[in-house]
Amino acid sequence: FEEEHDNNNNDYYKVPYGYDDERGLNHEKIFSHGPKFESKDMKHECDEFVFEDQIDFVKAMIMDGENLEQDQTRIQESKSDLEKQLQEDRKTLPIYQYRDALLQAVSDHQVLVIVGETGSGKTTQIPQYLHEAGYTKRGKIGCTQPRRVAAMSVATRVSKELGVKLGHEVGYSIRFEDCTSEKTVLKYMTDGMLLREFLGEPDLASYSVVMIDEAHERTVSTDILFGLVKDIARFRPDLKLLISSATLDAEKFSDFFDSAPIFKIPGRRYPVEIHYTKAPEADYLDAAIVTALQIHATQPPGDGDILVFLTGQEDIETAGEALKHRMRGLGMKIPELIICPIYANLPTELQSKIFEPTPEGARKVVLATNIAETSLTIDGIKYVIDPGFCKMKSYNPRTGMESLLVRPISKASANQRAGRSGRTGPGKCFRLYTAYNYYQDLEDNSVPEIQLTNLANVVLTLMSLGIHDLVNFDFMDPPPSETVIKALEMLYALGALNSDGELTKIGRKMAEFPIDPMLSKMIVASDKYKCSDEIITIAAMLSVGNSIFYRPPKDKLVYADNARKSFHEGNVGDHIALLNIYTSWKDTGFDSEWCYDNYIQFRSMKRARDIRDQLQGLLERVEIQISSNSQDFDAIKKAITSGFFLHSARLYNSGLPSSSLYRTVKHPHTVHIHPTSGLAKEFLPRWVIYNELVLTSKEYMRQVTQVKPEWLNEIAPHYYQLKKV
Ligand code: CDP
Ligand code: MG
Repeated sequence: FEEEHDNNNNDYYKVPYGYDDERGLNHEKIFSHGPKFESKDMKHECDEFVFEDQIDFVKAMIMDGENLEQDQTRIQESKSDLEKQLQEDRKTLPIYQYRDALLQAVSDHQVLVIVGETGSGKTTQIPQYLHEAGYTKRGKIGCTQPRRVAAMSVATRVSKELGVKLGHEVGYSIRFEDCTSEKTVLKYMTDGMLLREFLGEPDLASYSVVMIDEAHERTVSTDILFGLVKDIARFRPDLKLLISSATLDAEKFSDFFDSAPIFKIPGRRYPVEIHYTKAPEADYLDAAIVTALQIHATQPPGDGDILVFLTGQEDIETAGEALKHRMRGLGMKIPELIICPIYANLPTELQSKIFEPTPEGARKVVLATNIAETSLTIDGIKYVIDPGFCKMKSYNPRTGMESLLVRPISKASANQRAGRSGRTGPGKCFRLYTAYNYYQDLEDNSVPEIQLTNLANVVLTLMSLGIHDLVNFDFMDPPPSETVIKALEMLYALGALNSDGELTKIGRKMAEFPIDPMLSKMIVASDKYKCSDEIITIAAMLSVGNSIFYRPPKDKLVYADNARKSFHEGNVGDHIALLNIYTSWKDTGFDSEWCYDNYIQFRSMKRARDIRDQLQGLLERVEIQISSNSQDFDAIKKAITSGFFLHSARLYNSGLPSSSLYRTVKHPHTVHIHPTSGLAKEFLPRWVIYNELVLTSKEYMRQVTQVKPEWLNEIAPHYYQLKKV
């Protein structure tokens, strides 16, 4: 249910980026090809950024000077001293001086809107202050984050500050991973998880405080939570509600929560110089890489790290490889550059790298999705490179098509990004677009996600909470009515709602699974085909996203492709291939060597196993027996079809030999099989169902399996009729 808000499941297919051109290796050429910057608007930007809080700025400088001394002595200190040090560090955060005033405000008001710059200490400190003030004696303090990585990393940090083991007093809960215990009183979680907690505890009785953090992100789950918590606050006067946000646009939140007071934490900001390119950049990724290298080669190391905003995992991996490659080409001439990727699916053990201090004489370059815009605070950044794009959902309610698109960011985002460079000292931001673009083309604010996405999932959850009247639900910004109608139609088609719009038994079961309705329908339907064992494996593998296969360097690519083909033997389709991979791995006793030999990512497989375990637990809850039918591929495919019959396509006879065009059945338009599909190009099936569509240069179906047309009619007679010939 929880969404990945930096949308980086590799969803965006792009032709591998070729960096092995002649300019990759040549020091001179790197710099002659780089983007040309101008800063003619700098003065104006400085007005916006710099002179706002002169006094705070000076104060902050003094505090930072002290910090530095403390940092240096810290290295020799023992663990308990380190804990002491963390306590000292807490006092240097901007929020610290407002601790008492904040506690007073919370005590005086039931609902409080809190605004403060990223890095001021809202997420890590406020729950601790409330804990220290005794709020946890009456119940838990819950704090929501739009992103998994943020929930985990913040909980880790806070557990260190409190000197407790993660999962004890401080824990986190994200989809498919619950790191909390009986003891947990400070609970960080994704907004989607809190939404699901309403299913078991509609009044959130076990909480004394709920903090909806990063409210400005306006994810669907956060938007729905707004309506739900506002409602329960009315009949639970003892519940404290905090709505915290990084941007100054807090009036809207205040208005929504019946004019709740706004508590402002004055930020600590240093001047940020903004540079724009003179002309638009054709290839933002290349421009970003070259700009990073330029900074690194021309500025003294130790004067600050670089943060580059990219659109997703794929861009980040490509940029990382290109940077490594070019750094090698530059040889010993320039200092070490430590490349730190950060995106939502990055395994936990690799995440902490971005928080580690940069070794002397080296420089860090953090390649991040917009997760680093406000959710995560990375200290020591002096340079920000902003290509001006992010990946956003887009939804067409007429066709029901959802896709991820790379789109220009808003002005608000651009300013947040720039601000990341001025946290610990004066910074510089390089915008890879022109000043004209910024002023003329960028929207002021981003559109809330609820207006851009398929709502079937949310509607199902609300229905199971007993909220049927969606038209009158208290939305901050209501979704378009076509989107709501489309969601209802889809749930009806899947059998989750009856013709009166009431939740059916199937719908109730589906709602127990924290996954997309099509996937949960597939699982519920597997009972009928006696293959729930295989289907939850497939569902788990699909939920891991597109990080199962490891993409080796070019010279090994052929081995990887061969390994991959072996799972597709018999042209079984991508879903069964996923099942084959999992089963083979299981047969080796979940061996990591096996993964390595087959160019499969061990980490992704472990995650699939965890997800599978959870799904198995949920099966028991909805009283579906585990049953296995591993040899009957038709039964398995029929169960899949029961969930995905809305995603059907047929081979399109274009008159050309070996055409690979497909037409979607319900709202006919042309789609292609994604290049990563294992379906043999020579024997393309006439009818297929797909897991998802991705739109790039073309519209691609990803995870494709052959079906028989009569199944569609058999499984969804209300949806498909066979044509008489
Ligand atoms: O929520 P807000 O942006 O206001 O700040 P925060 O996330 O509470 O971060 C306050 C400080 O905690 C940051 O400046 C970081 O130095 C530190 N922090 C950290 O070291 N590791 C984390 N995972 C999160 C925060
Ligand atoms: Mg925060």
